[in-house]
Amino acid sequence: MGVDSIRLDSATPVTLPAIEAINDLSFGPDRHRRGVHQLRQGVDPVWDYCLVARKKRGRADTANSDSDSDPIIACIQYWAVRFADSTPCLLLGPLAILPDQRGQGIGRQLLTESLARIDNAADGGAYRAIAISGDEMYYKPFGFAPAPQLRVPGGTTRPLIMMVRPLPFVESTARAGGVAYPEGELQRC
Ligand SMILES: CC(C)(COP(=O)(O)OP(=O)(O)OC[C@H]1O[C@@H](n2cnc3c(N)ncnc32)[C@H](O)[C@@H]1OP(=O)(O)O)[C@@H](O)C(=O)NCCC(=O)NCCS
Repeated sequence: MGVDSIRLDSATPVTLPAIEAINDLSFGPDRHRRGVHQLRQGVDPVWDYCLVARKKRGRADTANSDSDSDPIIACIQYWAVRFADSTPCLLLGPLAILPDQRGQGIGRQLLTESLARIDNAADGGAYRAIAISGDEMYYKPFGFAPAPQLRVPGGTTRPLIMMVRPLPFVESTARAGGVAYPEGELQRC
């Protein structure tokens, strides 16, 4: 299957059961014990930036090809959190693809589209940066850089590390090497 046979869609509360099932399969039943989960527990994600990928069902009637019945095979979520000094930022994750759909560029598509939405959002100035506890090699091409001064509750388990990507309104400062993210643990909003 190529990426042409999937389409990206906004995630909504209706898509939550499918998102939870994909995350369970990808991170295991103990995933809620991870420290980073404390930042997400009991709060809604920032729905405007959360996406699902749906596998288009082959049908003769292409007029129905945007049907919500197309199965969800991947998802990405974002959460509103704060740096230790209370500056607002977005926390990325989970990003997960059904095991049998990996390695086809779906993760790249979800990241590229959601980051474009954030970069172009009218409320872009509401957040200073996007943080992730993730795999350095995977997220680096998307503008994330290691941020060892940041922590999530409970710490980060290797090989995951804290990474951060500045948003456009602070990017020029970042290029000049002037962005200093406050040291310490990310906090719930
Ligand atoms: C990690 C994951 C999201 C990648 O999604 P995917 O759709 O398989 O990745 P893509 O096909 O879009 O790959 C994009 C690029 O990243 C590379 N890549 C894929 N998985 C990678 C990984 N685990 N580490 C480093 N690079 C990876 C690919 O080789 C590809 O490189 P290329 O552009 O040079 O070809 C997916 O494998 C997954 O759901 N894993 C389990 C959950 C997880 O670990 N999520 C991420 C942590 S939040």
